[in-house]
Amino acid sequence: MAASIHFLESARQFHLRNDQISYIFSVSEDGKLLHLYYGKALPERDYSHLIEMCSRPMTTYRKEGDFLYSLEHLKQEFPEYGTSDFRHPAIMIRQENGSKISDFRYMKHHIFKGKPTLDGLPATYVEDENESQTIVVTLRDELIKVEIDLHYTIFSDLPVISRHIEVRNLSLDTHYIQQIASLNLDLPDANYEWLQLSGAWARERYIKTRTLSQGIQSIESTRGISSPHHNPFVALKRKETTEHQGEVIGVTFVYSGNFLIQAEVDTWDTTRLQVGINTFHFEWKLAPNDQFISPEALLVFSDKGLNGMSQSFHQLFRTRLARGFWKEKKRPVLINNWEATYFDFTEEKLLTIARTAKQVGVELFVLDDGWFGERINDRAGLGDWYVNPDRLPEGIGHLAKQIREIGLQFGLWFEPEMVNKDSQLFREHPDWHIHTPNRPVCHGRNQYVLNFTSDQVIEHIFQKMSAIIEEAKLDYIKWDMNRTLTEVYSCELPADQQGEVFHRYVLGVYKLYERLTSTYPNILFESCSSGGGRFDPGLLFYAPQAWTSDDSDAIERLKIQYGTSLLYPVSSMGAHVSIVPNHQLNRITPLKTRANVAYFGAFGYELDLNQLDPQELEEVSQQISFYKQYRELLHSGSFYRLLSPFESQETAWMVVSKDKKIAILAHYKMLNQVNHPFRRLKLQGLNPNAIYQIDQHDYSGAELMQAGFSITDASSGEHNNQSPLPPTYDFDSRIWVIQQK
Ligand code: GLA
Repeated sequence: MAASIHFLESARQFHLRNDQISYIFSVSEDGKLLHLYYGKALPERDYSHLIEMCSRPMTTYRKEGDFLYSLEHLKQEFPEYGTSDFRHPAIMIRQENGSKISDFRYMKHHIFKGKPTLDGLPATYVEDENESQTIVVTLRDELIKVEIDLHYTIFSDLPVISRHIEVRNLSLDTHYIQQIASLNLDLPDANYEWLQLSGAWARERYIKTRTLSQGIQSIESTRGISSPHHNPFVALKRKETTEHQGEVIGVTFVYSGNFLIQAEVDTWDTTRLQVGINTFHFEWKLAPNDQFISPEALLVFSDKGLNGMSQSFHQLFRTRLARGFWKEKKRPVLINNWEATYFDFTEEKLLTIARTAKQVGVELFVLDDGWFGERINDRAGLGDWYVNPDRLPEGIGHLAKQIREIGLQFGLWFEPEMVNKDSQLFREHPDWHIHTPNRPVCHGRNQYVLNFTSDQVIEHIFQKMSAIIEEAKLDYIKWDMNRTLTEVYSCELPADQQGEVFHRYVLGVYKLYERLTSTYPNILFESCSSGGGRFDPGLLFYAPQAWTSDDSDAIERLKIQYGTSLLYPVSSMGAHVSIVPNHQLNRITPLKTRANVAYFGAFGYELDLNQLDPQELEEVSQQISFYKQYRELLHSGSFYRLLSPFESQETAWMVVSKDKKIAILAHYKMLNQVNHPFRRLKLQGLNPNAIYQIDQHDYSGAELMQAGFSITDASSGEHNNQSPLPPTYDFDSRIWVIQQK
């Protein structure tokens, strides 16, 4: 069914609906937007009775003589503080007289097919106007002459609603936006578990849960990037919700900077969920005729558990957030030299790796950090995007040509937003980095952040990158970002606009991404921020894949990729096989397991293949053939999580093709167990009526999903020659191709 947005005139009620979800709100007598329902689809009817009001002591009311209508007790779409609601508002505007009170009332609405773009910001999109319906509700505060457009788009075939806000100043006064939530959702109860993806460098996006309770729970970033500490995503799930059953609401923010996601539970057990730019350190000047556009927030409902929610996000991100040439193309198998050589490479060393890579089937060679300026370690060179003549005396074009002659595509690492003090750029422009006048500035990895609020800086970096891109005819770019922002201030902006710097910085990053991706549409971009420090929906709009984590240990990656998969599709997760002992953990894992984990990502290698023995090289060659055979399925199939590394010593997941004719199942062990019980894994997403073959045995889809598939090891402790299968060990893993007969 197509999406529909129906306006019930008699009740002034809006019903956004497709065959999976309904979202209902109405306009009160005094022009406030009241929230009525969000969840599984409901029939078209009048739902005015869902507006609940009652008289309560200690309450302030809006109308003289009335003891019912208080915003404190009503569920709203776009709440304000200070006019009888005491919860956190969706907007706060500081006015010329110092007041922060506003009173936005319904003015008009407009319903149309399709979905408008967001100027300068990443956002989901449609390819055909029948894929969605949009409503723009305009509110106006008559006193301060500010208008607000609330945008809601409902997709036809996905349980997804996108939201953002546009604010216009039609007065002759200057106003300051101090708070603006892109999404506000007032829910009628608080019986939820809050699930977030949090961590730090090298352990990004671990699943953490807690029960909602009265008060405020939130995650945020104050670092200028979305950060590895908290991903801009929260799921509210019912206590009984599992991976495959039950209700869950997922929200995320299509943004790469400081965000705030918060749930406020009040004393009457209602929950106010908000997603937006972090209010911390934010203030936006709205001069007469200015307009401010908030980034987009996304809302997904699932009654098929967390996995149902994830699959909706995956489909949306792969097909209607990622853009351009690469979005649904087969991603090349790459080799990256970082963990192979770090800064210690010569042209010949790189070519030796590339030759072996070609022999085993690799398709793309990526030269990481260290090819530019005077960079021989991390103390110098950032900002100088011209080739390091000591390293590559004949230039980057020459290296690229040789790599191509070997038969590989060629890609390069950049860190466009950064500068080292020891660089030509810094010597020429000592004022181009973010700093606060007359104060010392902190470094991170010996580097400083360029002022991306400045068009001049962005233009300079674009020109330098362009020259290299064209000389080397790059096929791929890894855009890294290895420190967070401190002493945030822009010397180009007046005092009353310093609260804009964090947001303007992100807009600057988007501006350069947009320019590069539109000028060079065939380049595959991979985003990176010390691994997965800026792995967010905003950057997926420009770069369809991101380096998931600097932690390349296969066992650690189980948690990282499992957590990441809550929101992000397999095709977006850069995942490489690296050497053992692993460089982050010194752990030794089988080559087989390293590949079995990396297959569920944008696959590649990050080691010196010449250090492998012939048998291992043969294994690598087989891994690459396997990946090439199944990469389309791995990237576009439906992904199901089956066993969580956060809950046991085992992990399992699978992907199933859209037509359910083929699937790949993977099972991984962390620590082996002795004398363990018999185990069956209930598979998901197959056709119950079809017969599937696994390892030459036939099973019905129904059996695999209901009785389960045996994953019991042959040996459970004692050495046993009778066993039909080899004994297993720590960090072992198995992969099965499940083919319909
Ligand atoms: C970051 C990235 C790594 C690598 C190094 C290079 O840490 O996450 O993959 O590119 O920078 O300095």
